[in-house]
Amino acid sequence: MNRIDPEYALRRDVKRINEKINSILPPDNQKPISLHRAMRHSTLSGGKRIRGLLCLWSHEVNGQRYPASALKAACAIELLHTYTLIHDDLPSLDDDDIRRGKPSCHIKYGPAVAILAGDALQTLAFETLVGCEEAPYENIIRAARILSRSAGSYHLVGGQVADIESEGASLSPEKVEFIHSNKTAELIAASLSIGAILSEGEGEKRKKMYQIGKKIGLAFQIVDDLIDLEGDAEIVGKALRKDAQKGKVTYPAVYGIEGSKRQARKLVREAINGLKNYSDTVKLEFLFNRILKRIR
Ligand code: IPE
Ligand code: IPE
Ligand code: MG
Ligand code: MG
Ligand code: MG
Repeated sequence: MNRIDPEYALRRDVKRINEKINSILPPDNQKPISLHRAMRHSTLSGGKRIRGLLCLWSHEVNGQRYPASALKAACAIELLHTYTLIHDDLPSLDDDDIRRGKPSCHIKYGPAVAILAGDALQTLAFETLVGCEEAPYENIIRAARILSRSAGSYHLVGGQVADIESEGASLSPEKVEFIHSNKTAELIAASLSIGAILSEGEGEKRKKMYQIGKKIGLAFQIVDDLIDLEGDAEIVGKALRKDAQKGKVTYPAVYGIEGSKRQARKLVREAINGLKNYSDTVKLEFLFNRILKRIR
């Protein structure tokens, strides 16, 4: 039985992820300097590393065969996630000047370098993932397929397009479910899936992690919508009260604040129930509850 305090484990593993990402990113004196500084600025600026932790801790409850690979995969996912944030903040998408409490990439480095830094982080993510060579190649290929699918036009990028195209449009439960499930939940489900797949390969355990991840991922984006309405911008480190202003299709817009909180609670409860056939799930349960109760 693993009795480690989850709060301690979280801090320790965020540090491990950050140190590894630091070593993966090109140095800031590497030419072109603007590009590599932009990549480092956005990636090392204090993200919560929730996707990376989900990957690491899913790997742990699924046999933990290749911890060094799980750490690299966690970093790969965080690199990819950072690219999506850089592009999400661009003037032609959400037009946000602050991210992780610092100037957004395009504010500090200009839109051209920001777009290209995002592109480079995405390819670095896949270079990192296919470098998970402690795990069997078959597992790495499966993990790469899951990550690329989750991040592509069927899911993350498709969800982002639906999000942008729905600005100011009519609200509907189907629309918000489509947007949130694709722009956010799929990458979170991929994070849990990849942790499992590196250890166990493809199979029932991997599928179960995906299903749990879809629930926790949807809850994650519902809470993000609620934070936009109710949060403290100083704590969150990004501009708030913007979704309604932009006419975004969000859970609170469709279901109200209380209805959204109820749904988020239900999804997290179901995700935790999904863990009952695994052992040593204290940390994952802690993280799922943190996703529900987070204020940033
Ligand atoms: C923000 O994700 C983007 C969404 C999908 C809502 P996070 O809240 O995980 O951002 P960081 O990585 O901690 O900055
Ligand atoms: C972002 O959703 C989702 C992705 C980046 C894929 P949001 O636009 O709601 O995220 P924030 O609020 O800017 O972090
Ligand atoms: Mg957005
Ligand atoms: Mg945004
Ligand atoms: Mg948001």
